[in-house]
Amino acid sequence: MQDKTDDRGFDDWVGQVYGAKTNEEVKEKYDAWAADYDRDVESVRYGVPAVAAGLFGRYVAPDAGEILDAGCGTGLLGDPLNLLGYRALTGVDLSPEMLARAEARGVYRELRAMDLGARLDFANDRFAAATALGVLTPGHAPPTALDEMLRTTRPGGHLIFTVSQPAYEDCGFKEHMATIDGGGLWESLETTPSFRAIPGSKTEGNIEVRFYVYRVR
Ligand SMILES: C[S@@+](CC[C@H](N)C(=O)[O-])C[C@H]1O[C@@H](n2cnc3c(N)ncnc32)[C@H](O)[C@@H]1O
Repeated sequence: MQDKTDDRGFDDWVGQVYGAKTNEEVKEKYDAWAADYDRDVESVRYGVPAVAAGLFGRYVAPDAGEILDAGCGTGLLGDPLNLLGYRALTGVDLSPEMLARAEARGVYRELRAMDLGARLDFANDRFAAATALGVLTPGHAPPTALDEMLRTTRPGGHLIFTVSQPAYEDCGFKEHMATIDGGGLWESLETTPSFRAIPGSKTEGNIEVRFYVYRVR
């Protein structure tokens, strides 16, 4: 795990990761950001993991089973979920350095490097719930990531995830989610209003998100 930190702040890094064109570039940028990621997102009041923990409390029992944190990054969601009694956490991410930070928290049972744009190396119906925070956004995971979250979550299980507004409107999420609706593969339980995921950021216009909660059919 690299300990090197530098002077770039949240807005510099976010510009870089949003500008990445390939998975390799995304991985390199997040590897380079990993040592400072928690400090930088805290500086812009990133509140998404706290909202996610609230939604888990509303919909998923702590003993429901294994939970997939897709695009877990440094594992910011792991701490509140662990505190609330969710112990069977599996995280996946493209970036080994982000995964190393998540590992250091000691709250994930399993952490694996995987691409959410490809087939995940998990059996059908393995998880009781799957979540993805800050990863269904331009230049990150594509809409088909939702198909894999659906495939690996058991019927009756839950998907709790954010989609950024630019991704929803311009990267095919609106259409893909409508197709899943049309196929009757999930039931919508809740959609939050759009809110600023990072209120302290100068690029906040790019990062309005909604939470979506579905029950898998
Ligand atoms: C903005 S961070 C969010 C991390 C964490 N979920 C959080 O809320 O702090 C986005 C994460 O998604 C990962 N990522 C981006 N594209 C991905 C992909 N196609 N497959 C897996 N992980 C990806 C990045 O490496 C990064 O750790």
